[in-house]
Amino acid sequence: MNLVLAFVRKSVARLRAPSSKPKGWLDPEEDSLVPPRDQWIGPDDSISHYFRWIWEYLAYLTIVAELQREEAVLELGCGHGRTSRGLLSYLRSPGSYVGIDVSRDRIADAQNRITRRWPNFGFVWANVRNLQDNPGGADAAEYVFPFNDASFDVIYAASLFSHLLPGETANYLKQCARVLRPGGRVLFLEPNGWNPLFYLQIAVTPGMTWEGDGGVIRMRRGPVFRAMQEAGLTRLSLERFGFFPPFLTNRDWGRRLEAILERVAVWRPLLPFQMFRGERE
Ligand SMILES: C[S@@+](CC[C@H](N)C(=O)[O-])C[C@H]1O[C@@H](n2cnc3c(N)ncnc32)[C@H](O)[C@@H]1O
Repeated sequence: MNLVLAFVRKSVARLRAPSSKPKGWLDPEEDSLVPPRDQWIGPDDSISHYFRWIWEYLAYLTIVAELQREEAVLELGCGHGRTSRGLLSYLRSPGSYVGIDVSRDRIADAQNRITRRWPNFGFVWANVRNLQDNPGGADAAEYVFPFNDASFDVIYAASLFSHLLPGETANYLKQCARVLRPGGRVLFLEPNGWNPLFYLQIAVTPGMTWEGDGGVIRMRRGPVFRAMQEAGLTRLSLERFGFFPPFLTNRDWGRRLEAILERVAVWRPLLPFQMFRGERE
């Protein structure tokens, strides 16, 4: 029994141990674009995790959302601007990017690192309430995006809606429909609420709580499609991929095993990541 307990304790400690590497080996140009670790969503994530998502987000935007080089992109919950990194060399004038987030520090950091050098990349602080990053803000269910109607071609979000309450999601989706141009696309990358490992991740990861992260349970086809339809979005589709949630896939062995497992049809409904796509007519 003691041996089993020791094994469980050791495994949990290992899951919590920082797997980060210093970023001193990057050349100065690249180094200046990587935000300081205290701004990262997971400060202990490996550097390969940071880069992996830059390029994956670019692939989803260009392949799944069919983002063209001269189009206007809005990102909701942009964090420290990771998505924008892949777009710096893709978008060209009049192409533009705007990211909004409730974290004032991350927005200030991204403005400083990116907007100063690429003025067609903007970052806007959304002063709305969020338990972890902005507890004093206004109600997200009432927030009006600070943009004109029909001003974006593509709206993207990665792991945002799983942090919002249903009323907040409904409002954000309606705002999306308002600020999208006719023919504009939305693409939302979210964890799959049917995958039980996300609940394990919430239980073992320091800083994750049911209150802040439990919205993953609503990230299922039915509720999300209904909310998108009610907001006036059409041509809805859903694609699932990956195998493990980030705390396992961020490890080398996890990534290798995942490449094999995600090809097996029988558990596709449980695959951890999902892309919801929709359009404005
Ligand atoms: C899991 S992080 C994802 C960050 C970024 N999309 C990425 O992948 O690097 C979720 C982000 O959503 C932001 N957020 C949470 N609630 C929000 C809200 N109501 N409006 C805008 N951003 C919000 C958080 O501050 C955080 O940066």
